[in-house]
Amino acid sequence: EKGTYPHYMLKEIDEQPGVIRKIIAAYSTEEGTLDIDPYIKQAFQHADRLYVIAAGTSYHAGLIGKEYFEKLSGLPVEVHISSEFGYNMPLLSKKPLFLFITQSGETADSRQVLVKVKALGYPSITLTNVPGSTLSREADYTLLLHAGPEIAVASTKAYTAQLAVLAITAYAVSCDAHKLDLKTELAIAANAIQTMTDAKEDLKKLAHTFLTDKRNAFFIGRGLDYYVSLEGALKLKEISYIQAEGFAGGELKHGTIALIEEGTPVIALATQSSVSPNLRGNVKEVTARGAHACILSMEGNNEPDDGLVLPHVHELLTPLASVIPLQLLSYYASLQRGCDVDKPRNLAKSVTVE
Ligand code: F6R
Repeated sequence: EKGTYPHYMLKEIDEQPGVIRKIIAAYSTEEGTLDIDPYIKQAFQHADRLYVIAAGTSYHAGLIGKEYFEKLSGLPVEVHISSEFGYNMPLLSKKPLFLFITQSGETADSRQVLVKVKALGYPSITLTNVPGSTLSREADYTLLLHAGPEIAVASTKAYTAQLAVLAITAYAVSCDAHKLDLKTELAIAANAIQTMTDAKEDLKKLAHTFLTDKRNAFFIGRGLDYYVSLEGALKLKEISYIQAEGFAGGELKHGTIALIEEGTPVIALATQSSVSPNLRGNVKEVTARGAHACILSMEGNNEPDDGLVLPHVHELLTPLASVIPLQLLSYYASLQRGCDVDKPRNLAKSVTVE
C-alpha cells in the first residue's frame, strides 16, 4: 500500500535508506562483517571472468558492479545487454560465470540468455528482488535484494539495492585482506541517501526551473558518474517523456555538443574527485554555448559547492547517493508535466516478451 504517499515511486524513493540498512543486516555475519553464501563465493573463486547480463536499469547497475568486482576482487567482468548477448554471443573465457541482474526475475530477454548458457553447462547466479521468480528458480544460485515489492514502473529502490548487494558480493569474494570497512561505508551511504531524500523541495524547484517546457536534457559524468548519468537519463525519459541522454563528459565534444542550445538543461555529476576537474571543464564548454548546467558535487572533495551537494560517502559508493536527486528530479518533472508517474505510457513493470 502506498499509504499517505501520492505515488508508489515517491514512497519507494523514500524507502531506500531503510532498504540499504536491511541489506546490511541480511548479509551480516555473527562476527559482524559482511558475507555471502559460501557456495556462491566458490562459484566466483572458480571463475576466470564474470559475465553480467541485464536490461534497462539493472544493466546500469551492472556497469557499476563491474567496477566493484574489478577494483575489490580483481575478477575481470563484462557487462552485456541481455537482448544483444543472446543473439550475438561473444567469445567466452575458459571458465565463465554468469550473473543475471533482474529486479523482477521475469525479464524474457534475460531468461533466453540463461536458457542458452545453461545448455552450454555454465554456472549461473540470479540477483533478484523476487524469490521464486523464473530466473531465480532456473539459475544455480540466487542472491536476494531484500528491497520489498517495487510497484512503480520506474525502478528506484531496486537499483540502489542492486548496487549494495553487488558491492557486498565483490567484497566477499575479494582476495585482498579487507582494507575497506564496507559495513560502515554502506551505513554512511544509507545516511547520505536519507539526506538526499530530505531535499525534496530543492529538487521540486529545480525540476520546475530546469525542465519545464524542455524538449531534451543531458546528463554527463566521468567514471562511476557516467554510469549514474545513464540511469538519470533513463529515469527522466521513461516518466516525463523528455528526451534525455547520458554521456561520458569527454565524449561531448565528439558530437553531442552540437545539440547544445540556449537553455538546454545539462545535469553534471562531479562526485569523483580524480576526474571532477575535467568534468567541470566540460560544464564550461556547454555553458559557454548557452546550456543551463546544474552540478552535483560531493562534500569533502574541496571543490566549489555551486549546485547540489552530496554528503561525503566512499568513492565507490557515490552512485547510491548521487542517483537519489536524479530520481526525485524525474519524479517532479513527471508530476509537473501531468504524466502518469507510476504507470508511464507504453511500459510494463516486467517485460515478458523478447
Ligand atoms: C527502468 C526499468 C526497466 C527495467 C528493465 C529490467 O526504470 O524499470 O528498465 O530495469 O526492464 O527489468 P528487470 O530488472 O526486472 O529484469
